[in-house]
Amino acid sequence: MALAESPQPLLQVRDLKVHFPLRGAHKDATVKAVDGISFDVPAGRTVAIVGESGCGKSTTAYAVLGLEKPTSGQVLFDGRDITHLRGRDRQALASEMQIVFQDPSAALDPKMTIGDSVAEPLAIAGRPRQERRRRVAELLDRVGLSQTFAARLPNALSGGQRQRVVIARALALSPRLLVLDEPVSALDVSIRSQILNLLLELQRDLGLTYLFISHDLSVVRHIADDALVLYLGTIAERGPVDALFEAPRHPYTQALLSAIPLPDPARQRRRERIVLKGELPSALDPPVGCPFIGRCPISIDRCARVRPPLVPCPTGTEAACHVRAPADGGVVGL
Ligand SMILES: Nc1ncnc2c1ncn2[C@@H]1O[C@H](COP(=O)(O)OP(=O)(O)OP(=O)(O)O)[C@@H](O)[C@H]1O
Ligand code: SF4
Ligand SMILES: [Mg+2]
Repeated sequence: MALAESPQPLLQVRDLKVHFPLRGAHKDATVKAVDGISFDVPAGRTVAIVGESGCGKSTTAYAVLGLEKPTSGQVLFDGRDITHLRGRDRQALASEMQIVFQDPSAALDPKMTIGDSVAEPLAIAGRPRQERRRRVAELLDRVGLSQTFAARLPNALSGGQRQRVVIARALALSPRLLVLDEPVSALDVSIRSQILNLLLELQRDLGLTYLFISHDLSVVRHIADDALVLYLGTIAERGPVDALFEAPRHPYTQALLSAIPLPDPARQRRRERIVLKGELPSALDPPVGCPFIGRCPISIDRCARVRPPLVPCPTGTEAACHVRAPADGGVVGL
């Protein structure tokens, strides 16, 4: 499948764990924000990470970018181990990978003109003034903003325009990988598809690779080639988006998808709505066996004792479920 088919994916994440030891009253406790996930992002493609709030999406992104220190595991970029790069070596990676955050207002200095904000990474990289000016003009044009925006302050822009500026700035050093952490969630619904289409256009024209984080499955379907469904810092299911949306195997993926309206009313009427019990449990003390056990409508005894491995399913995804994707290839329940 596409998640692993490229001989050398641009980004490889291997058994990544990010645990946060707690202080104070919970002295010996650990938050297992990311608890052993592996995935590849092939060059020129989009891999999405989806899941409820607190499932470990941003922590995974920060570990990839070196903003959070992994407890164990490896991050490889273009075949090179970058897991523990710090200081100047890490800074040099700024021209290879950049992040776009959810809230464009927080990402822009309100006192800096748009031109200066977009030019900032170029100034830090020591590029001459004339090159900076030329590149800012090019970047504004790329993201669909006229040159007059360069002299404006962020408060004179709409949310969508601000996110265009943030994207332009992220592209300033011509990175190959963009990590997009909920890039359209803070925007008005009417603006979201414009920004998603801009991202698709930029990917096509510049050959960009995206690690795209979202809790919104409709957005993921629109933009991603492959997706990982995270649950309590582990992968519940992953695969090409078409297979995930058409034939999800894991009960958690099925529950998430059952909440999205289908365009076909007949299919909508036939489909069972699966409502999850309770909220995502705390990552402070995750279950020994399947992380989903507390909310699973089809659990069996084994689920409490043994963590299910990710197993390829005949429908094209890989799922971690003793019932829906048994590791021994036994009878697959429906
Ligand atoms: N520095 C930290 N110290 C302790 N716990 C943390 C820290 N950072 C994150 N966590 C915890 O790790 C878990 C995963 O957090 P993370 O921010 O990665 O989730 P998320 O999937 O991005 O959620 P959201 O959709 O709300 O952004 C949560 O339980 C969070 O409280
Ligand atoms: S392994 Fe068990 S608890 Fe986990 S999703 Fe499958 S059936 Fe449910
Ligand atoms: Mg987050």
